[in-house]
Amino acid sequence: MTDDHTGRYGRDLFEPGHPREAERIDAGAAAYDPVTTRRLRALGAGPGMRCLEVGAGTGTIARWLLEEAGVDEVVAVDRDTSALAGPAGPRLRVVTADLTDEALEPGSYDLVHARFVLMHLPQRRRIVSRLAGWLNPGGRLLLGDAVELPDPLDAGSAYRRTMDAMWEALHTTIGTDISAVPAYPHVLRAEGLTGVAAELYCPPLTAGSPLAGFWSQTWQRMRPELTATGRVDASTVEEALAYLASPGLAELGPGMLMAWGQRDPDGGRPPH
Ligand SMILES: C[S@@+](CC[C@H](N)C(=O)[O-])C[C@H]1O[C@@H](n2cnc3c(N)ncnc32)[C@H](O)[C@@H]1O
Repeated sequence: MTDDHTGRYGRDLFEPGHPREAERIDAGAAAYDPVTTRRLRALGAGPGMRCLEVGAGTGTIARWLLEEAGVDEVVAVDRDTSALAGPAGPRLRVVTADLTDEALEPGSYDLVHARFVLMHLPQRRRIVSRLAGWLNPGGRLLLGDAVELPDPLDAGSAYRRTMDAMWEALHTTIGTDISAVPAYPHVLRAEGLTGVAAELYCPPLTAGSPLAGFWSQTWQRMRPELTATGRVDASTVEEALAYLASPGLAELGPGMLMAWGQRDPDGGRPPH
């Protein structure tokens, strides 16, 4: 594995113009939205709050915050906001911006949420600092990213080899790295947040599940990058895709670690 990635999410992989990109993101959201929204609810999402949804994707969480939690306002930021098109309404502001742009200053918020975006950005540590800096006193930051709990006895299945090839290909192509995700609680504490905690959720990866559809679409889109790793050939990828579609599919797929913390209600700024 090399560290010479120069590509970018949305340009070198997962280009927004692809006809099934919104469907792919929606499949991932369907698997994780129930736990994300449960956590947001527990963190107090509700009326009176101004929220920032970072890397908003197709906007499922932005819409939940507005329509179900009843927050006052959501600012949804993404480098590609085409899937957020439609009637925004006065309480949803859509901002097309790149999170790595140091000039981005979207204001201050009572709740900031970022899911499955920081892991794709090599500048993730710096961006967490900036997200923490956008919290109002008492404001809460919730981060969600992928973690893997691979079966240590399975080094050879087509599923395992393709999943491993995917993480390597994502890393070499655009700089994705999930190795730092378990450290998110420590990162949030280093940012001066209090009440820091974390939890892990692994949705069932079974036949016909939204997650099976998500990984299937992801691998189909990444065929050239997967085989370029040298870990899998085209027939292994086909075998893995067939397994994802088979009634016998039963895996503990990648899960989502959520970590959260709160800015001091007395107004203390995080130590930068
Ligand atoms: C895997 S999707 C996750 C979408 C959504 N957060 C969810 O969990 O359903 C990653 C999202 O991050 C956005 N993204 C990736 N890199 C970005 C960047 N540098 N700045 C802003 N958004 C970015 C992508 O456009 C995409 O919408």
